[in-house]
Order: sequence, then C-alpha cells, then structure tokens
Amino acid sequence: MDKLLIEGGVRLAGETAISGAKNAALPILCAALLTREPMTFTNVPQLNDIDTLLKLLGQMGVKVSRDNATVTLDASAIDNPVAPYEMVKTMRASILVLGPLVARCGEARVSLPGGCAIGARPVDQHIKGLQAMGAQVTVEHGYVHAVVPRLRGARLFTDMVTVTGTENLMMAACLADGETVIENAAREPEVVDLANCLVAMGARISGAGTDVIRIRGVERLNGATHRIMPDRIETGTYLCAAAATGGEIRLTRTSTAYLDAVVDKLMDAGCDVVAERDAIRLKAPARLTAVNIRTSPYPAFPTDMQAQFMAINAVASGAAMIRETIFENRFMHAVELQRLGADIRIDGNTAVVQGVERLQGATVMATDLRASASLVIAGLVAEGETVIERIYHLDRGYERLEEKLAALGARVRRVA
Ligand code: EPZ
Repeated sequence: MDKLLIEGGVRLAGETAISGAKNAALPILCAALLTREPMTFTNVPQLNDIDTLLKLLGQMGVKVSRDNATVTLDASAIDNPVAPYEMVKTMRASILVLGPLVARCGEARVSLPGGCAIGARPVDQHIKGLQAMGAQVTVEHGYVHAVVPRLRGARLFTDMVTVTGTENLMMAACLADGETVIENAAREPEVVDLANCLVAMGARISGAGTDVIRIRGVERLNGATHRIMPDRIETGTYLCAAAATGGEIRLTRTSTAYLDAVVDKLMDAGCDVVAERDAIRLKAPARLTAVNIRTSPYPAFPTDMQAQFMAINAVASGAAMIRETIFENRFMHAVELQRLGADIRIDGNTAVVQGVERLQGATVMATDLRASASLVIAGLVAEGETVIERIYHLDRGYERLEEKLAALGARVRRVA
C-alpha cells in the first residue's frame, strides 16, 4: 500500500488550483440516471470515489465516457438497477443511486452501505422518505429493495439534517406524481449545486439552500450540461495547511463563498484571508492562536473540517475545545496526532487540545479521508520526516495531493 513521506518544517508558499467538489459530483453524476438523454459534466474531480461511482453506473448499463475533468453519461438503457455490495462497501455514497433508480425504473436494489470508520451512518431517513412517497421498501440480506410503479409527491420531514438523504429524496421527487416538500432539509452548497443541475434538466425545484425544499414532479427530465462547483473542503484543507506552517498561499478556481465559518476561524487564529473573485489568498502568522470548534450542519462549521483544525490547534498557542456533534466516532486522527507529540485529551465528543511548540515526525496511519488530511497538515509542521500509511483514504477525496502540495513548496513524496 502506498505511503506518503513528508519532510516537515517548510512554510507553504505559492499557488495551486482547487478541483471540483467530490460531494457535489457524487450526487450530480447519479442525477444522470433520471433521464434517457445524455448528460455532460465538467470540472469533475479525478478521485477514486468518482472512479468507483462511474464503474457502478457502468454496470447498470449507463454508457460512461471521460476526458480528464469532463464526464459524459448516457443512461438511455438501464438494464440492471442494482448496486452490489462489492462496490457499495468501498464507497458508501453509492446509496445516492437509490432515489434516482426508483424514480426512473420503479425499482432498485442497493446494498446497505454499512458503517464506516467515523460512525454507523444509517440510511433510515432515505428509506423513510421513499416509503412516504409510496415505495414498498424491504431491507433483506444487506440490501435495500424498493419497488413502486410511480412515486407520489409527499410532505417529508427528516429526523436530523442529512446531506445525502436530502439529495436522494430531492432526486426521487423530481419524477414523482405531484409536489414533494422536504422539511429539515440540508442546506449544504452541494445540495444547491445538485438542485441547479436538476433544474437545468427541467426539474421544478424551489428552496434549495434553505431547510424547506419544494419539488413539483414532472413526467421526464432532459439532458443538460453542468459544471461541478469548487470543492470547499479541499479549499479549507489547503488553507489549514498554509495556516499551520506559517505560510502564504493563493488558491485558484475556488472562492470563500461557502467557507464563511472556516474563514472566520482561520482569521480568529490570526490569519489574513483575502477573497478574490475566484481565488483566495491566505497569509499566516508565525504561530497561530488556538480556536474553539463546534461542528454543525451548514452554514455552521463543517464536520469535514474538524480533523484539519485539530492539527492546527495541535501547534497553536493556547488550548482549545473541539466538539464533534455530527458523527459519533470522528476523533480517530487524535491518537495518530498524539504519536507526533500532540497534547490532546478526548472526552466523549469533545477534544481538548493544548498547543505544543513542536511536533516530531513519526510513522502514522490514516483511518478515514479527513483524518488523513489532518495527518498531512501535522506532518508538514512536524520536525523531521513523517510517514503516513494507508493513504488510499486520501486518494478518495484529494486530487493530485502531492503535486498540489509540491506546488506550494512542501517536501512530500509518495512511495509504494
Ligand atoms: C455527507 O455524508 C458527506 N458525504 C460527508 O462527507 C459529510 O461529513 C456529511 O454529509 C455531513 O456533512 C457526501 O456528501 C458524499 P449525513 P452523509 O447523512 O450524507 C445521521 C467526506 O469526508 N443519519 O448528513 O452520509 C448520520 O449517521 C464525507 O467527504 C442517520 O442517522 O451524512 C450522521 O450522524 C464524510 N440516518 C448525521 O445523520 C440517515 O438516514 C449526518 O449524516 C442519514 C443520516
């Protein structure tokens, strides 16, 4: 398995470009299942998760063609509305084919994603919503099996804010008979990007980005072209890397538009952040001030940036509290950061981080996507060499990571 070797101690400087958002591309590529006409997507990030989803769509009968960041999907003939365990277990967001398949084919058989490192991550809200729309749903032998001649519009209320739950139900509602209202909907920008794509296909959606989304079902959707929004979590990750190393960088093809909570925290930590039209500049102080973090659904501080800020706080001056309110087990990076010398105490869903002057390089292990990013940031500031194992986690969500870090002056290389 590949490893990443990082020589710490370099202040990041320079410029690199941000890729399309993984968490927008995944639901948006699934939206192609809703129409018989071809769909073209641009600014699609080249990531393992995207490759996995395209393979999954291909085995359903979707014709897939790809030219770098441009993907064309033709779902005119879906002959196998099934998402098998072998594929779903490697990429839980495969659950996003469930809503579109039921809406388009009247049937779907999708493997339950199962848990993952950060939590149980059930899909009960996805199922509850489809049942409310008239689908007969059974869960047997590890598969969700949904059948309905045609979904009907309904008033849906999710027990908690769920991003992919909102996305699945919004896609399903596009072809339902009548109006669907999703209350307590997720307001994440990726939900809005998906809604914009669906509207371009002829869907009738209002309220995306608020906690009440209305969808008036139509008979069919047309093909369209859609450009995937920039990845705000990739953006935040590089901003944190520059902040932790006392660097000065510029990120292009992105914006602070959906990062207010993160940018506020970076400024509280002592960074200067300047927003340009489609770029961001950050200049960090020699040493950051520790900042308290509490994760919450958008527009509050994103859980996907929690691990990166734990790395920041590990070397900042002062102590800080980090509260993780979304997932039940999203502190696995803490024990790995402790191997690098971080002073972190975990108590349930709260971590108290006491900043230290210096981290020491060591061998550490990535456990999940954002935890891996946290270890990269720590490795960039640690004294000496840090070896990060199991970096396949990183490859799921960060396109050309070592190339982009090298463009910012980092001493990083991948070894098999
Ligand atoms: C999405 O996951 C993102 N993934 C996650 O990003 C992100 O961390 C998460 O939203 C929260 O923002 C994609 O968009 C592909 P949820 P999702 O449903 O939709 C519980 C990354 O690093 N829940 O909003 O799976 C759930 O257990 C990934 O890029 C239920 O109980 O998250 C969690 O505690 C990690 N039942 C909470 O709700 C359900 O039916 C929020 O989960 C659905 C969710």
